[in-house]
Amino acid sequence: MSLLSSDFVRVCDAEEINMNDGKSFQVAGRNILVCRTKEGFFAVDNLCTHQLQELEGGKIRGCYIFCPLHGQRFDLRDGKPIGQLTDKPLPTYPIELEGRDVRVSPRPNVGERD
Ligand code: FES
Repeated sequence: MSLLSSDFVRVCDAEEINMNDGKSFQVAGRNILVCRTKEGFFAVDNLCTHQLQELEGGKIRGCYIFCPLHGQRFDLRDGKPIGQLTDKPLPTYPIELEGRDVRVSPRPNVGERD
């Protein structure tokens, strides 16, 4: 299924999120964490798939985020978990920069729809 530009919702200015940090937004009823890394911006579910701890505030190193509760690591690029606590991936969302606007689609990437 192709994405329409109307699928994307502006969530913030790029400058509102510091490097190696994340900020959560409610987008169409979903709690989405937008993370800024040296490789760009990524959008993932703000809930750890281990025990549903919010990931906002978790350390971001490279393209990985660490859950603040038990330290599970997830790859922000594809949501893949790395570690022993869960094998359930984190849903990821399409994200784009338009000028200074960070825009997110609330429709999870293909293969990750729930
Ligand atoms: S709740 Fe995230 S690692 Fe346990």
